[in-house]
Amino acid sequence: MATPHFLSTFIKSSFLFLVSISCFLEQTHAFESKNTKIQDSFHTIQVSSLFPASVCSPSKDSIKKRPSTLEVFHRHGPCSKLSQDEAAATPSLSDILSHDQSRVKSIRARLDSIRTTDKVKDKKVNLPVQSGSSLGSGNYLVSMGIGSPKKTLSLIFDTGSDLTWTQCQPCARSCYKQQDPIFDPKTSNSYSNVSCTSTTCSQLSSATGNTPSCSLGTCVYGIQYGDQSFSVGLFSKDTLTIATDVFPNFMFGCGQNNRGLFGRTAGLIGLGRDPLSIVSQTATKYGKYFSYCLPSKPSSTGYLTLGKAALGGVQFTPFDSSQGSSFYYISITSIAISGQQLPIGRAVFKNAGAIIDSGTVITRLPPAAYSALSAAFKQGMKKYPAAPAFSILDTCYDLSNYTSISVPTVSFTFDGEVKINLSPLGTLIAVSSTVACLAFAGNSDAASIGIFGNMQQLAFEVVYDVAGGKLGFAAAGC
Ligand SMILES: *[C@@H]1O[C@H](CO)[C@@H](O)[C@H](O)[C@H]1NC(C)=O
Ligand SMILES: *[C@@H]1O[C@H](CO)[C@@H](O)[C@H](O)[C@H]1NC(C)=O
Repeated sequence: MATPHFLSTFIKSSFLFLVSISCFLEQTHAFESKNTKIQDSFHTIQVSSLFPASVCSPSKDSIKKRPSTLEVFHRHGPCSKLSQDEAAATPSLSDILSHDQSRVKSIRARLDSIRTTDKVKDKKVNLPVQSGSSLGSGNYLVSMGIGSPKKTLSLIFDTGSDLTWTQCQPCARSCYKQQDPIFDPKTSNSYSNVSCTSTTCSQLSSATGNTPSCSLGTCVYGIQYGDQSFSVGLFSKDTLTIATDVFPNFMFGCGQNNRGLFGRTAGLIGLGRDPLSIVSQTATKYGKYFSYCLPSKPSSTGYLTLGKAALGGVQFTPFDSSQGSSFYYISITSIAISGQQLPIGRAVFKNAGAIIDSGTVITRLPPAAYSALSAAFKQGMKKYPAAPAFSILDTCYDLSNYTSISVPTVSFTFDGEVKINLSPLGTLIAVSSTVACLAFAGNSDAASIGIFGNMQQLAFEVVYDVAGGKLGFAAAGC
């Protein structure tokens, strides 16, 4: 079969994409909660618990009985069926952190372009090309079914983007190697193309940050996650199956040209706020409500539940609805170390703003907030010898002479007096077998957005009540 005309055309005219992204974390560096003793202001942990486990130990069975619930596993952990295959391609921690920085840059560029677009919204605006940064792809995967009969695909889930896409046959231009067989629309009797003239085609502009293109009457999407990762292809409809729930005519990207840091996954699920996100498209069934728990160790599993589950002990903070775009904005009001509130003015958080993101690994804070956090953490860790900075992490300790350590408790307070105590696995990240660093980084610019990243979310059940306009946290989620 010859390369379809549409591909050569739209690749030449080359999309100027920029968007959210995901990042990949090889989270081989977690603490085991069973070795954790929680006191009031310090956690005592075994240094040995820093090392990764090689055996998968799935968490709580009770969760699997919840309706509309999918198992979440870490891409590189032993619970991932992709991990064997990915072993050779597993990035180092310094690669992961540099991909993380690229994701953060992309998020900022996207926010800047949205602000610019708002100012000149009466004119047609081309979004700026984002160049010079690569980006990673999400760390956490779930499986969903597409087509009739359904084909099961392992997909990265990402709260920082909207379009769901998977690689599709005939891979007219390029497909990377994936674990599952590549979806072939010809084998699905419920597949259809979205036409260029449909209103949903025009919605791609906000969902992807790029104006859609048209090929032989079929709407063509393009999404780029930095200068190396992208997916371009036919905007399509087919039946989506989530656990036992079936959604006919789900709109997604059928990727004909796909490249980048997606590992062996089949594509990506966009859990953002845009009308084309999976959250919006399944709203009649799930009411724009979902929750997830990211496993505290890569050797364990978490879950993604769509719809309202019967949860106890969830504290809710309002989303900051004054902000547009697909991101989930929240308001951080204060940070405490060992129960002592840090001297950070509210304006510091307010001026920067913040989002919660499933794909950013390390939480980013305004510079004044980070320096206060780092200083207080150093004070609490002063008996341990300091180690040199590692990548974006500058508060590091040499733990070679210790079998157990006492880590100051870090707490975050969000709007609505929602206070959560991070577990030590959300506080320290091991960067080698003997060195661990504070798992936070400061932004260089006080106006840059704060990002509450996935390390700090580990083990919480994080609840997105999008319709209700609020975000919840429940401790000991998985
Ligand atoms: C969808 O569009 C592509 C490109 O125009 C075409 O090759 C394909 O046959 C179409 N599929 C269906 C089911 O209409
Ligand atoms: C560990 O202990 C040994 C022996 O007391 C000492 O020589 C070494 O400097 C210590 N290492 C660190 C990183 O503190």
